[in-house]
Amino acid sequence: MRFLNLFRTTAFRLALVYLLLFAASAFALIAFIYWNTAGFMAAQTDETINAEILGLREQYTQQGLPGLRQVIIERSAGGGTGLYILANADFSRIAGNLSAWPDVPMGQGDWVYFTYDRTSPGETERRSARARHFELRGGFHLLVGRDVHERREIEDRIESALFWSAVITLGLGLIGGLVMSRNVTRRLDVINRTSRDIIEGDLARRVPLSGANDEFDELAENLNSMLDQIERLMSGMTEVADNIAHDLRTPLNRLRSRLEVTLMKPATEQEYREALEGAIGESDGLIATFNSLLLIARAETGEARENFEPLDLRAVLSDIADLYEPLAEAKRITLKVVALKPAEINGDRGLISQALANLIDNAIKYTPEEGAVIASLKLLDEEAVLEVRDTGPGIPQAERDHVLRRFVRLEASRNEPGSGLGLSLVAAVARLHDARIDLGDAKPGLIATLRFHLKD
Ligand SMILES: Nc1ncnc2c1ncn2[C@@H]1O[C@H](COP(=O)(O)OP(=O)(O)OP(=O)(O)O)[C@@H](O)[C@H]1O
Ligand SMILES: [Mg+2]
Repeated sequence: MRFLNLFRTTAFRLALVYLLLFAASAFALIAFIYWNTAGFMAAQTDETINAEILGLREQYTQQGLPGLRQVIIERSAGGGTGLYILANADFSRIAGNLSAWPDVPMGQGDWVYFTYDRTSPGETERRSARARHFELRGGFHLLVGRDVHERREIEDRIESALFWSAVITLGLGLIGGLVMSRNVTRRLDVINRTSRDIIEGDLARRVPLSGANDEFDELAENLNSMLDQIERLMSGMTEVADNIAHDLRTPLNRLRSRLEVTLMKPATEQEYREALEGAIGESDGLIATFNSLLLIARAETGEARENFEPLDLRAVLSDIADLYEPLAEAKRITLKVVALKPAEINGDRGLISQALANLIDNAIKYTPEEGAVIASLKLLDEEAVLEVRDTGPGIPQAERDHVLRRFVRLEASRNEPGSGLGLSLVAAVARLHDARIDLGDAKPGLIATLRFHLKD
């Protein structure tokens, strides 16, 4: 059954088509050469016979039957490959080196193949001959021919060689096709089996490589890295879901206990009002967290690329800085903007504004009073370099990659409000715009840098 399945594989069918084409063209070529050569040899024999007939006819015209008979007797005794027989109207032999008129039907001028017995001392041999028949005046018959035994034998051998080589070519090709398709099928089987295991839930399975470094290994490598990538994404998603569940439980619990405590003892209308306002504040925080998560998801799917438009980073920067001016002033922090030239890029205005706002918000939030925040925009090597630098505590080198993930907040900043999503959005927006994000040390403080490609 498995063996029969091999016949249905693409590899086998391809091998078969190739084999048939190859065998047909080889056969056609050899046959063409053979028929040409055989035809040439046959034509040569016929030509010699024709020439001889011409000579004999001349003899007959000049010297009549006795002359012709004499020449035939002479030629028959010559011992060449020529065959002659002169016969009466009833085909009884008069002269020639054939013992009797051959038993094949023939008319005037016909070409015939026949066999005759050649007797040499001690043995008789049956041989093939080719000849042409002529009727002479007076009802006599003349047959002039050539012994073509060797030629016919060679032709026979070539014909049987042709037949057997066709059989062998087809046989070997069939076996080759089977072996080839079995190899291909075996390699594909491994991939199919692995896929089935993965579908059935064994997500850690990978396609084994044969080490041959061929196209199957390349396919296996690509499949494996695709599976790795899917696994990474899936574990990332589970982590995000865990984090969301975990981080939203705290504010929801807080909201619930606040409401519960209010209900435990009788209270005045004023007290209820305060409790409800507190609850609204908590809910606003939750809504803001959800909005941030949705924004990050939007930036990560890449769908936002459809909204890309040409925009000037300098204009965006000064808008956001204006927005944060009151917050900085309240903490007596100097907020300075340095942007000498406009920088045109292609991007999503809303997402870039939000990312920039998050950076400036962090800088103001984590910098102690009387500090300074400098937001600058420079053009460098075909790039727009956006930098937010502060004089706060900075982020330790070891934590700089970590803080870009969702819900990560450093221990030192636990007493500031926040959900740990600000920098995640900045990172997602950077990825969406093919920009590079870099957190560095401003000694003291943090420098957050975003490098965008300029619009071309
Ligand atoms: N300018 C900064 N100086 C010092 N630490 C910072 C600075 N910016 C970010 N961090 C640290 O990185 C953490 C992650 O920042 P992120 O902006 O993602 O979250 P958050 O500010 O805590 O909350 P959110 O921005 O969602 O309100 C912060 O909690 C803080 O510990
Ligand atoms: Mg923040």
